[in-house]
Amino acid sequence: MNFYDSERMTDLLKPHGYQLDDNEDDADLIVLNTCHIREKAVEKTYSELGRIREKINIRKVKTGKRSIVAVAGCIAQAQGKEIIKRSPWVDIIVGPQSYQNLPELIAKVDPVNKNKNINIDFPTIPKFDQLNAKIEERGPSAFLTIQEGCDKFCTFCVVPYTRGAEYSRPLMSIMDEAKKLIDIGVKEITLLGQNVNAWNSKGLDDKNWGLGRLIDELAKINELKFIRYTTSHPLDMDIELIKSHRDNKKLMPYLHLPVQSGSDKILKMMNRKHSVKEYLTIIEKVRDYNPNIAISGDFIVGFPGETEKDHMSTLSLIKKVNYSQAYSFKYSKRPGTPGSIFLDHLNEDIKNSRLHEVQELLRSQQLSFNEKTINSTMKILVLKKGKKKHQYIGRSPFNQSVYFSSKNEKLIGSFIDLNITEAFQNSLTGNIVLDF
Ligand code: 5AD
Ligand code: SF4
Repeated sequence: MNFYDSERMTDLLKPHGYQLDDNEDDADLIVLNTCHIREKAVEKTYSELGRIREKINIRKVKTGKRSIVAVAGCIAQAQGKEIIKRSPWVDIIVGPQSYQNLPELIAKVDPVNKNKNINIDFPTIPKFDQLNAKIEERGPSAFLTIQEGCDKFCTFCVVPYTRGAEYSRPLMSIMDEAKKLIDIGVKEITLLGQNVNAWNSKGLDDKNWGLGRLIDELAKINELKFIRYTTSHPLDMDIELIKSHRDNKKLMPYLHLPVQSGSDKILKMMNRKHSVKEYLTIIEKVRDYNPNIAISGDFIVGFPGETEKDHMSTLSLIKKVNYSQAYSFKYSKRPGTPGSIFLDHLNEDIKNSRLHEVQELLRSQQLSFNEKTINSTMKILVLKKGKKKHQYIGRSPFNQSVYFSSKNEKLIGSFIDLNITEAFQNSLTGNIVLDF
């Protein structure tokens, strides 16, 4: 989602004379878009700020020009004052719900007397209604945010505090953005939301539509060929969405459905509002409707109070589901969350060894999932060039990175049939079925 927000900020700033530069050395404006989800991301932000400070100082000495620095995203939202205290040379602090105001904030920066601009409100007019920026450049595949925020309040998570309450973009606003993307050559769209499957809006028939209906409506756009979505919550997995995985051929057979833990006791302490059994029942149902679907998830190990038995239950759930791939993290105490005052914190050694076990199991499942695709043929959208000569990169229907080579220089954005020849831990390689 930060990636999407960064792209929208770029769109927004273009009419004001800014263009993207991959080198900060001579940048007039540096926007650091930040993530607050785990402590590691916060530490990274402060070290990045140190690095940026050096760069802008060198530029000032060399050229006499002063760069404007903006910190955006969830750390800006949660720790704006702290950032200004630690880095008083930062000019702008802007939260994830207010970045549509970036051009005005930049205009207000006084180059001589550094006045601070802080905009971390949750505006009453949703940002999408004000984000009318032209979209000029995307690759063949683009992100589209349809839902933001969260009302679930898992006890470990900062999202409800930094991204605010659950909000669904209206259907027409999403359809308009999808058409804009198609007009500039996009062929695959990934719908985004912190709780993407909580999306709902008044539909074309005036009835309330959920994500399944939205995907079916988007699929009617002829030039749009592949649709993906992330991230879902088990409580919002309704039958319409599950049916789309059977009936809608443009919807890719991949579901990222985080469970976080395989222990009912821990799920309760996490306030996940579902049990292990309920989660497994959903997975079973999804597989009933589409037996080929790849299942992914998120896990937190070492939540306060997690015993060896709870950990074993997580390993057992992973074995039952058999993931195609999944993300796993050590529990990280987040300020302001209920979890931060839980007392029974585990020591780092235990967390590390449990994380290792979970990751080893997930890695072995991922490798065998990847290996099963050998000799199959997949339709792939060619996304970009690889690092090697004649190499291209695409994404499989199951969300695997796929590498192949062709001497044809103009394949980006086209669809090819690829025969998978080799499988690795994180990628596949293949040959074009009919090359020319
Ligand atoms: N500690 C560790 N992992 C976390 N996540 C969210 N909050 C925390 C935390 N405090 C993980 C969850 C979530 C993913 C986006 O990040 O697994 O699904
Ligand atoms: Fe965070 Fe997801 Fe829980 Fe919401 S549902 S609080 S975003 S982990």
